[in-house]
Amino acid sequence: MSYFKVLGFEKEPFSTSPDPEFFYLSKEHEIALTNALIELRLKRGLSVILGDVGTGKTTLSRKLVQELKEREDFIFHIILNPSFENESLFLAYLARNFEVPLPVSSSLNVLELRESIERFLFQKGVTEGRTVTLIVDEAQKLNEMSLECLRLLLNYETNKFKLLQLVLLGQVELHSKIMGIPNFFDRISFKYSLNPLDYKETKELIEFRIRQAGFKSRTHLFLDEAVKEIYQHSRGYPRQITMLCHRLLKQMVIKKKFVVDKYIVQEMVRDEVREGWFPKESLLQKSNY
Ligand SMILES: Nc1ncnc2c1ncn2[C@@H]1O[C@H](COP(=O)(O)OP(=O)(O)O)[C@@H](O)[C@H]1O
Ligand SMILES: [Mg+2]
Repeated sequence: MSYFKVLGFEKEPFSTSPDPEFFYLSKEHEIALTNALIELRLKRGLSVILGDVGTGKTTLSRKLVQELKEREDFIFHIILNPSFENESLFLAYLARNFEVPLPVSSSLNVLELRESIERFLFQKGVTEGRTVTLIVDEAQKLNEMSLECLRLLLNYETNKFKLLQLVLLGQVELHSKIMGIPNFFDRISFKYSLNPLDYKETKELIEFRIRQAGFKSRTHLFLDEAVKEIYQHSRGYPRQITMLCHRLLKQMVIKKKFVVDKYIVQEMVRDEVREGWFPKESLLQKSNY
């Protein structure tokens, strides 16, 4: 029997999959999500969300997808790993995934693909009043050609709005990539950098995920003293928090304890540092909480 069932959970509370059901709306995530949705509704074109590894970009993108699914006027697609070798492959990929009607021909050139996509965007956006949205996760992997291709697609517009809405989520390198392309940076209508959580939010995220996983007891599984240690070692990065909490709950069961106290956290972090699994610096950091 898995440890989480022993503890009375219905689901795994600290899985690392970007499940929207386990999405805790931190201040940072709320700002990013709300603004991205506003920009989409206003059809302003381009939103860029940056963040370090593990700040919750992929989770946020899934939440955005969930929100868009509920809105009938949206047609969207999410690219999880954007690595396209040339423009024609990229455009063909977009055409296929948006179900763009294409002229019957075995090999379409870039111009034909572009024209078909433009026609499609006009048909959907203007004639049918829909909002066509492309979300790109791991957008720092977009090469120059793909960015240029997206820039051209962003040029399609009416007097009032852009025909394609684009949300890019990526690691900080994306920033310098975009800065290097003239006329791309100016087109960003919303930009935001996701920061890690603060102590209070770290505590809330842990509590939220435990409840979402079906834990009914009124008692706290993680004592405040343990959450302080978790915050210090994770520095508020959601991925670090969830991975640490997952291991801590397992350890708690192994040790036949009923709560995670600071000693379990300290012991685990010490062991992991000794084995080379955890960066030493996090032990030295004494941030305020
Ligand atoms: N807002 C959030 N609420 C709950 N869990 C989160 C949140 N953001 C991130 N996580 C957790 O952290 C893990 C890493 O997040 P992820 O979205 O993959 O980060 P990134 O894409 O920025 O590297 C996720 O699998 C999820 O378990
Ligand atoms: Mg990610």
